[in-house]
Amino acid sequence: MDNNTVYLNGDYLPLSDAKISVMDRGFLFGDGIYEVIPSYSGHLFHFEQHMERLENSLTLIRLENPHDSAKWREILTPLLDANLDQSIYIQITRGVAAKRDHTFPANIIPTVFAMSSNIVGFTDLESGAKAISIDDSRWGLCNVKAITLLANILLRQQAVDRGCAEAILVKDGYVTEGAASNIFAVIDGILITPPKGREILAGVTRDVILELARDNDIACSEDIISLDALKTASEIWLTSSTREIIPVVQLDNETIANGKPGPVWKTINHLFQTYKKSKP
Ligand SMILES: Cc1ncc(COP(=O)(O)O)c(C=O)c1O
Repeated sequence: MDNNTVYLNGDYLPLSDAKISVMDRGFLFGDGIYEVIPSYSGHLFHFEQHMERLENSLTLIRLENPHDSAKWREILTPLLDANLDQSIYIQITRGVAAKRDHTFPANIIPTVFAMSSNIVGFTDLESGAKAISIDDSRWGLCNVKAITLLANILLRQQAVDRGCAEAILVKDGYVTEGAASNIFAVIDGILITPPKGREILAGVTRDVILELARDNDIACSEDIISLDALKTASEIWLTSSTREIIPVVQLDNETIANGKPGPVWKTINHLFQTYKKSKP
């Protein structure tokens, strides 16, 4: 099926025909979660890890998973195209209520939506990206992949308005992650990423990178990173399923190292590209 066909509550239909009620709690309250799974040549990458995170997000917002993993795969398969690298988007909201009321309605049926789009990726890998650091103004449950993304949107837009690719978020002097990505830094020769917790979304790409680093004897640790320490890093990367591993070469107008993607990034990016093709 082409990217124009979407899944909504049991049906496959053209994107322009997919409609939901204005009483959907996703629309009224942002009461829902989402997941993004990359698909390379028709194969969902790390499907089970994405399913685990989906389950975790649902549990944290007290919504039962409407499907098991096998059923999710069955639902998504018709959206895949063997000739494309795609990003598969899943959204589940608490559903359509009779009236607008904060309290969970009884016997509500969740709204389930899925669509695909082409992965464009970050096109300027040779030169790297610019980023800004900015106060992390998000809520206290950043481990939930919540559709309520207003803070992330406003933060990312501030970066874009300043000619940067991403906003690096800082809470109480420590970096958490990007507005839509996880962060890695090479400091004193060690690859560091902040630990999992309620301050960050546990990225699937993040886990793959840690696994690749450990398997290839690249010194790495999951540890807190102060903004001051980040400013001394020889490399900074931002990672996500759709943008993969972006080397940051400028932070807050200051050049990082020699202003080019670093050697550890080159090694990991090469390993990642090979791994991605070998292990759907
Ligand atoms: C806030 C945030 N952190 C981290 C990530 C990276 O997660 P993943 O690698 O699973 O795409 C994302 C992805 O969109 C994100 O929105």
